[in-house]
Amino acid sequence: MPVAQLVGVAAQFLSRKRGLSMRRTAFCPVGSSVIVTGAGRGIGAAAAVRLAADGLHVVACDLDAAGLHDTRDRIVANSGSCEVLTADVTSPQDCQQVAERAASGAQPLRGLVNNAAVGAFAMDVESTTLAEWNRIIAADLTSVFLMSKVSIPLIRAAGGGVIVNVSSVHAYATSPAVAPYAAAKGGVLALTRTMALDLAVDSIRVMALVPGAVDTPMLQSHAEREGKSLAELGFPSGPNAIARIADPEEIAGTIAFLLSRDATFMTGSALVADGGMLAKF
Ligand SMILES: NC(=O)c1ccc[n+]([C@@H]2O[C@H](COP(=O)([O-])OP(=O)(O)OC[C@H]3O[C@@H](n4cnc5c(N)ncnc54)[C@H](O)[C@@H]3O)[C@@H](O)[C@H]2O)c1
Repeated sequence: MPVAQLVGVAAQFLSRKRGLSMRRTAFCPVGSSVIVTGAGRGIGAAAAVRLAADGLHVVACDLDAAGLHDTRDRIVANSGSCEVLTADVTSPQDCQQVAERAASGAQPLRGLVNNAAVGAFAMDVESTTLAEWNRIIAADLTSVFLMSKVSIPLIRAAGGGVIVNVSSVHAYATSPAVAPYAAAKGGVLALTRTMALDLAVDSIRVMALVPGAVDTPMLQSHAEREGKSLAELGFPSGPNAIARIADPEEIAGTIAFLLSRDATFMTGSALVADGGMLAKF
């Protein structure tokens, strides 16, 4: 067989082997550990509770120590396994500490949920200072880079796994004056794609999750700041299921699915869980 043909056959073999290995190992099995950022409340807390209930050891971090302790109490009350760390995911040192804590446990790290972010509304380009822009991009985009950077070597060493990056419908369709938040969440989608391509060889899937409106402190404080009800802001609850607000537990269920063995053919894309919000115009 000519050399070029041999090389082609070998490449095909390797690529098929890689695909199979992704199927066998690119998920979070029971007994492995998963890092959840922003786990002190809202979607992150619900995800931490759900993943622990599913048999994962959860390494939960947040800026908010009190919120983290509530999350830990909920997990422990449910006989789940977790540890909590107060950490700022915009700090490379704090991210390193979270990864070191995950590495020091008995359970191999197989998952990372990059969920922490800050909401930022009433901010168009002209009214946003550079300092505010940098703060929001750091919390909502750079944090994904930083936590992934320190977690990837651990997930790779464990034989593969999954990274879920929480984006937002604002990555696709937005409203006026959401400049830094929408830009960061769009960046999360692009980062997800390139990470998925880079990490497939290591049996690491990378997915973005695109929630619509979810009933969390982030959404409630947005309504309070605007001095309007959620309905006035365009989030009606009515007989039509489309455009109702999600419970954080529903989004946690979607995160659990993305980390699971049922999602081993999903990587580099975004799963929209928005109750039909993006279907409307
Ligand atoms: N709630 C919604 O309607 C909605 C919709 C779409 C997307 N999202 C996204 O879902 C994710 C969770 O949102 P939520 O509604 O639960 O928000 P939330 O504000 O209720 O909770 C976010 C948590 O992240 C933590 N956090 C923020 N910055 C941090 C930092 N630098 N380091 C560590 N922890 C930090 C906060 O302390 C808080 O506990 C975010 O990425 C958000 O953008 C939310």
